[in-house]
Amino acid sequence: MIRAYTIASGKGGTGKTTITANLGTALAQYGRETCIIDTDTGMANLGLVLGLEETPVTLHEVLAGEAATQDAIYEGPYGLKIVPSGLSLQGFQHSDPRRLEGVMRELTDRCEFLLLDTPAGIGNDAVIPLTMADEVLLVINPEICSLVDALKIRILTEMVGGTVGGAILNRATLDGADMSRRKIENALGVRIIDTVPEDANVRKTAAARTPVVVKYPESGSSKAFRRIAAEIAGLPVEEEPEKVQEGFIERLARTLFRRVS
Ligand SMILES: Nc1ncnc2c1ncn2[C@@H]1O[C@H](COP(=O)(O)OP(=O)(O)OP(=O)(O)O)[C@@H](O)[C@H]1O
Ligand SMILES: [Mg+2]
Repeated sequence: MIRAYTIASGKGGTGKTTITANLGTALAQYGRETCIIDTDTGMANLGLVLGLEETPVTLHEVLAGEAATQDAIYEGPYGLKIVPSGLSLQGFQHSDPRRLEGVMRELTDRCEFLLLDTPAGIGNDAVIPLTMADEVLLVINPEICSLVDALKIRILTEMVGGTVGGAILNRATLDGADMSRRKIENALGVRIIDTVPEDANVRKTAAARTPVVVKYPESGSSKAFRRIAAEIAGLPVEEEPEKVQEGFIERLARTLFRRVS
């Protein structure tokens, strides 16, 4: 059974932190023991969007070898366990991402599901989590730069021996400017597990420091987060998109693959 998921995208701002917070909360709402970890040690946001106030010990201290993992675990909605990173630059400097493996081992013993929020880019701190989880979930926005960057993460994941389990298409507006789900799937070679719509309530809840699945449970994004959580928790889901003819995006994807292999 898949238990640990790394949420990654390559491109910044695609919704990794939002998805980690809401998927984690939705899994906890389903009664699953879930822990989410902020491996974005440089630009830590997970604790902020979940409204954590006092976090004297964080992943920073654990990755610096100065504190035990259990002291960096905080409780969120529905008993969700959160391991935030700290906000200080000094804490970031002292963090050694190679210690993450030990942290993961300890948390796997305590939780049914583990979600890792990751930094953007392809630095060491972004690549190490790709090797740690059972599966990497790619977060994509329906536009070309996001797709190309996600493709790089897919290739990198395979190069370092990790597994990409699927993708989440976030911020879909379904207007004419969006790339279609089928095109993205064909170009990426990865199944899109589900689509999360562009939802103004996500921004409102980030400001209110509460997950949208808690504050606006009937919102479109909340329904999507619950569907994805249900899939992760082992409930059946439908759909398998039909193939489309190869177009510009698919050709671009093939070129990218050829260049790195
Ligand atoms: N489905 C959505 N609808 C509307 N806004 C969204 C949605 N998902 C994310 N956002 C908004 O997009 C912005 C970026 O989201 P988020 O911080 O989760 O991205 P990220 O991938 O973690 O970014 P970074 O790479 O900087 O860590 C935030 O303002 C968030 O509220
Ligand atoms: Mg983030």
